[in-house]
Amino acid sequence: MTTNLSIITLITFLISLTPTLIKSEEGIDVFLPISLNLTVLTDPSSISAASRDFGNITDENPGAVLCPSSAAEVARLLRFASGGFSYRRGSNDPSPGFKVAARGQGHSLRGQASAPGGIVVNMTCLAKAAKPAAVVVSADRTYADVAAGTMWVEVLEAAVEREVSPVTWTDYLYLSVGGTLSNAGIGGQTFRHGPQISNVHELDVITGKGEMMTCSPNLNPELFYGVLGGLGQFGIITRARIALDHAPTRVKWLRILYSDFSAFTRDQERLVSMANDLGVDFLEGQLMMSNGFVDTSFFPLSDRTRVASLVNDHRIIYVLEVAKYYDTTTLPIIDKVIDILTRTLGFVPGFMFMQDVPYFDFLNRVRIEEEKLSSLGLWEVPHPWLNMFVPRSRILDFHNGVIKGLLLNRTSTSGVTLFYPTNRHKWNNLMSAMIPEEDVFYVIGFLQSAGGSQNWQELENVNDKIIQFCDDSGIKIKEYLMHYTRKEDWIKHFGAKWDDFLRKKIMFDPKKLLSPGQDIFN
Ligand SMILES: Cc1cc2nc3c(=O)[nH]c(=O)nc-3n(C[C@H](O)[C@H](O)[C@H](O)COP(=O)(O)OP(=O)(O)OC[C@H]3O[C@@H](n4cnc5c(N)ncnc54)[C@H](O)[C@@H]3O)c2cc1C
Ligand SMILES: *[C@@H]1O[C@H](CO)[C@@H](O)[C@H](O)[C@H]1NC(C)=O
Ligand SMILES: *[C@@H]1O[C@H](CO)[C@@H](O)[C@H](O)[C@H]1NC(C)=O
Ligand SMILES: *[C@@H]1O[C@H](CO)[C@@H](O)[C@H](O)[C@H]1NC(C)=O
Ligand SMILES: *[C@@H]1O[C@H](CO)[C@@H](O)[C@H](O)[C@H]1NC(C)=O
Repeated sequence: MTTNLSIITLITFLISLTPTLIKSEEGIDVFLPISLNLTVLTDPSSISAASRDFGNITDENPGAVLCPSSAAEVARLLRFASGGFSYRRGSNDPSPGFKVAARGQGHSLRGQASAPGGIVVNMTCLAKAAKPAAVVVSADRTYADVAAGTMWVEVLEAAVEREVSPVTWTDYLYLSVGGTLSNAGIGGQTFRHGPQISNVHELDVITGKGEMMTCSPNLNPELFYGVLGGLGQFGIITRARIALDHAPTRVKWLRILYSDFSAFTRDQERLVSMANDLGVDFLEGQLMMSNGFVDTSFFPLSDRTRVASLVNDHRIIYVLEVAKYYDTTTLPIIDKVIDILTRTLGFVPGFMFMQDVPYFDFLNRVRIEEEKLSSLGLWEVPHPWLNMFVPRSRILDFHNGVIKGLLLNRTSTSGVTLFYPTNRHKWNNLMSAMIPEEDVFYVIGFLQSAGGSQNWQELENVNDKIIQFCDDSGIKIKEYLMHYTRKEDWIKHFGAKWDDFLRKKIMFDPKKLLSPGQDIFN
């Protein structure tokens, strides 16, 4: 036993004497000096795990993976990479030799969390090492301090234990807090509470220069608003202070079917309107198309056949999805709201369906879909997803041109299509995230899977046609989770905010090391 231990100690010691080779993108090899005291992983399985993402389209090998046990390690790495030290072998040149990308859960679509030839920082390691815990609910239960590598499902688990909860969610909870805050974090609660980036009080960030900074609307506001929706460009978030509120215990979850597009959008817009507030807690929408897979699993067994026939008869059915939270004490109020919905909404009579589920199960509903698809081998397939925000004023044109003109006209479609309105007023324009300039805009998600008869390139061609149609028709969309490779597309995307974005890059990550997989500054 003692002998084994000392052999391990000896081996560890010998390894620690060997500087680590990092193969940079530019073809210059850089050695991490021993004095940095950083252990990086370069074994094939670590490299290969960090090279892939959910999109399953790109595959970019990093030179190494850092599994940090403290934020200080990440700061050391970035200080070294940004040239604060000049350790490159045989040279006093302090210029950087490698890029660095934080990786949360790697649920990006196009290699956004990759660092070709550089170092991927595994944020899960940092969350696991967090003291006293990855999620710490404040004494007054109004916020939680969360390690950025934590998954939202873990935040939920820790919060509900204290009968509180974050207020706004993504559809899927196995995403890291740092990853969604770098984009926006949107879902069915966004119309009321704003995106996840609007529900953060404070952040700890390590900038591209390796400086550890705490920021908030009052402290270092430029960094705070910059990193929210900032696509990982200004720093690595290590901690986020997330707003909490009372956690309900149960949810009435409804899917309501429409054959008429105008009735569908009229009702959706009425329900998200604060002037006309019926108090639903969640609102989304989906399309069911007869040339796609019609998923009837939500509906009671005895109704599935007639739902499927409705879709076949109309070719397209619009599904309004709403939820109302409740506790035993609020149940009578809920019944009243549902009664009003039943009487006033313009759905196809007889096609309103309801489930009554625990709050946790409602929020975690996509996990069930993942497990189903996984068991069929349909989860780890290419995902040429297209997500965008469409101004309300043009939603009918979008529907006619894209949904009817392009999608319904195809022999087949794949995956889920999200289609729901949300409000602009809960978004802060100081943040880096971009949305259309209209009070109400639609969230559209073409969440397609390739495989079988459809390859991803074919689906990507349809995506290009959708974008082209919007351009040609002057529909001023903003893409979400986009991946542009041409600088002019990024400049167009950020519009009036581009100069500010660039200025912040120079201020916080002057060597342009961070999240190179976004392809903004390469
Ligand atoms: C099944 C599924 C469902 C989804 N549903 C929704 C949804 O409903 N709403 C929604 O808004 N989004 C949704 N998304 C998209 C998701 O929010 C983004 O892909 C998000 O980036 C995923 O988080 P991640 O931890 O996997 O990020 P990663 O892919 O690991 O990273 C994303 C980007 O952020 C950077 N980054 C990661 N962590 C940090 C950090 N701590 N500090 C700074 N930068 C960092 C990375 O370098 C990279 O550029 C969904 C994705 C999937 C796969
Ligand atoms: C190196 O880092 C480890 C933690 O990763 C720490 O325990 C150790 O004390 C450090 N060594 C030196 C010489 O700083
Ligand atoms: C990140 O670290 C976690 C925890 O150690 C590990 O389970 C996971 O596989 C790692 N991810 C990658 C991409 O290396
Ligand atoms: C896509 O996923 C499959 C299955 O996990 C894997 O074998 C393949 O290497 C992945 N391809 C890319 C480009 O990530
Ligand atoms: C549908 O597709 C056909 C054949 O590709 C094409 O001629 C027709 O114009 C399309 N219809 C619409 C509405 O785009």
